[in-house]
Amino acid sequence: MASITVTDYKQASDTLRLTDLRQSLYDEGAILMEKVLVNLHGAEHRTRRNVEAKVFRRDFFHWYEREIFPATLNETLRPYLNAGKLDLVDFGFRVMMNLTADFAGVDRPKRTAEETAQLLRILRTFGKAATLGQALGNRDEIRAEISQALLEFDTDFFQASLKRRQGLLAQLEHGEISEDDLPRDVLVELLRNRSEAPIEPDVLMKEIGFFLLAGAFTSIHTFSHAMHEIFCWRVSHPEDAQRYRDDPLFLQKAIHESMRLHPSSPTAGRRPTCPVQLPTGDQATPADHVSVDLLSANRDPKIFGADAADYCPHREIPRGIGPYGLSFGTGMHACIGLNLAAGTLPKADTVASEHQLGTVTLIARELIRHGARPDPEQPGVVDRSTIRNNWASYPILLDV
Ligand code: HEM
Repeated sequence: MASITVTDYKQASDTLRLTDLRQSLYDEGAILMEKVLVNLHGAEHRTRRNVEAKVFRRDFFHWYEREIFPATLNETLRPYLNAGKLDLVDFGFRVMMNLTADFAGVDRPKRTAEETAQLLRILRTFGKAATLGQALGNRDEIRAEISQALLEFDTDFFQASLKRRQGLLAQLEHGEISEDDLPRDVLVELLRNRSEAPIEPDVLMKEIGFFLLAGAFTSIHTFSHAMHEIFCWRVSHPEDAQRYRDDPLFLQKAIHESMRLHPSSPTAGRRPTCPVQLPTGDQATPADHVSVDLLSANRDPKIFGADAADYCPHREIPRGIGPYGLSFGTGMHACIGLNLAAGTLPKADTVASEHQLGTVTLIARELIRHGARPDPEQPGVVDRSTIRNNWASYPILLDV
């Protein structure tokens, strides 16, 4: 068995598009991940993705970003503005979790601080399933912890969310309510398309748990890295400080640049389903493992220039290349939430006030508007329990 690593940007992109390679990054985290979307292959993957993609339409994100998200963000931010400080990681978890729970279909009926804290705790434990392959601690203990969290999620959140939607779908069938009365989320779509995309009850529960994870975890870490890069750049380039505040398209570009440097998953893992020639020229068989090194590919100087490893919000990106590199993947598993998190790419005639910026930029903009700056008394702390180098905490100060 050979392990083949791809680091060149073009080869990495072409490798992710090969349909003879299947997902293998989450093999260790099978307890949650085994039959969820990102682990499926071929027709099974296509069918489920098509069903779920009904929720992830661009026009819907645009509407959500303008009409719904600002209120959610302000409501979450208000208590911290009074205090004049917050922790970027904790705050990111709160905002992103509520947002992703809405898209996934997880109700939080009590809307209390305790309920949020409980779901946050469950979500943090689910996060360990996605990173189990890179965990440095005792993996059996981590698996037991995930198993417990799944039970708690099922009992305290999923079953009630499921029953409410089953009830609404029955009412719709009897003509008692209209289509507009249904929540627009992944759980509803999976339930109403069961004949087209059958899914076992425990897999359905895990799929919804996985969605919470896929949407919230990635965005949170992306957000705290981006804020750190902005803080550092403002110190070395004070002339740009005002632009971060006043120019949303510049801020979005700056966030995309940080996304390129800090892919939420530094590698993608694949395994051939049959003998296959890789874009690197290697011959690979089903016994081999292919690791696509997204971190290196995104810093490929052939594509991004000699200073590819440095953060530069003014970077010119070649045509046909995403400004965030391969951080949202490509090919069959390309991120379904890309437009939600990163927005759309502006064109020459884009009007900033009409543009879809993406949730990460929206949150950053709101904090920068309120004078966000690192807390000089408490420097951020990096999480050393995985090789991902995410921020474990990042205290900042705000204008009161
Ligand atoms: C900054 C934020 C995000 C980043 C960096 C990110 C990154 C990624 C990457 C790299 C993949 C591909 C994994 C692979 O090829 O093995 C992926 C897939 C996926 N992402 Fe995201 N993601 C983000 C936000 C979101 C959001 C907001 C959602 C949903 C609300 C989401 C849902 C998913 C799903 C469901 C998949 C699996 C798609 C499939 O297998 O067909 N992601 N994401």
